[in-house]
Amino acid sequence: MTKERILTGITTTGTPHLGNYVGAIRPAIASSKNDNVESFLFLADLHALIKCQQPEQINQSTKEIAATWLALGLDPDKTVFYRQSDVPEISELCWILTCMTAKGLMNRAHAYKDAVDNNANNGEDADFGITMGLFSYPVLMAADILMFNADKVPVGRDQTQHLEIARDIAQRFNHTYGEVFKLPETVVDDSVALLNGLDGRKMSKSYNNTIPLFLGQKQLKKHINKIKTNLLEPGEPKDTSDSTVFQIWEAFADTSQTDYMRKEFANGIAWGEAKKQLFELIDAELSEPRERYNSLMDDPAAIEKILKAGAEKAREHARPLLAKVKKAVGIGALS
Ligand code: TRP
Repeated sequence: MTKERILTGITTTGTPHLGNYVGAIRPAIASSKNDNVESFLFLADLHALIKCQQPEQINQSTKEIAATWLALGLDPDKTVFYRQSDVPEISELCWILTCMTAKGLMNRAHAYKDAVDNNANNGEDADFGITMGLFSYPVLMAADILMFNADKVPVGRDQTQHLEIARDIAQRFNHTYGEVFKLPETVVDDSVALLNGLDGRKMSKSYNNTIPLFLGQKQLKKHINKIKTNLLEPGEPKDTSDSTVFQIWEAFADTSQTDYMRKEFANGIAWGEAKKQLFELIDAELSEPRERYNSLMDDPAAIEKILKAGAEKAREHARPLLAKVKKAVGIGALS
């Protein structure tokens, strides 16, 4: 049986937080352990350049994200785990695909359109602050995906348009030059929780409301204590449906633990007590990976070695595909 190839990338601009863990990292690692699946997972550092011009931040984030995935049990022998910029074939393919991409298609891409709308709202010139990197972001993403003939690409809702674009580009290429690329399928898993952050809005770096994944115990406790609650006193029954404390609890608990906390809410558990128990629940799941994370962060050379080996594996797939593409378009060796 041929394995299903699943590919996804993570932009290296931030520090992984509980929302990333529950929504993306945990399910991806679980699926990478499935024997019927071949996982490609990469650090999208070329994408990071689009929104971040702080070299130290990109470097640090790359290290943190790699250490996070490894600490949480990603097996680099079973998964193709690499850094995008270590696979130069991706950038080469990106240019060839750029020549197959209608500008009008890029004009309609959300990230670019949002930037233009923002400029209009602020009375700026439409092009203000917009780089060609932002404009052609979806082409690079198409190269990431098409380079490896991915069957499925799990992404957040906000990325589905980029997958449509990748399919469009692949179709146009195949139509022009013959069948080279497989059309990737988008997978949006709405069953995984979108975790709320400290202020009750979706947990996101842009809202500055995150709980970083590998805080030390003291800091983790402190962050959990900052989760916004209502003013109900101990003894007063509390609603689970609008509570971030309960929502995060649910993301870490099994069914019996969830039932237990639901009863505690009905019985009027004090917020302080609920938060204390939430800390213990999260800490129990994360304390071992946190130790592995800290040792990896202290040994960047070890991470580097894993990423380089991953890039070598990725390039074994990328080289022949790029050769096929070049031949199809008529560049390269003369015959
Ligand atoms: N753009 C994606 C994001 O911001 C990250 C990404 C880059 C990606 N290349 C990809 C995701 C290829 C899936 C496939 O989340």
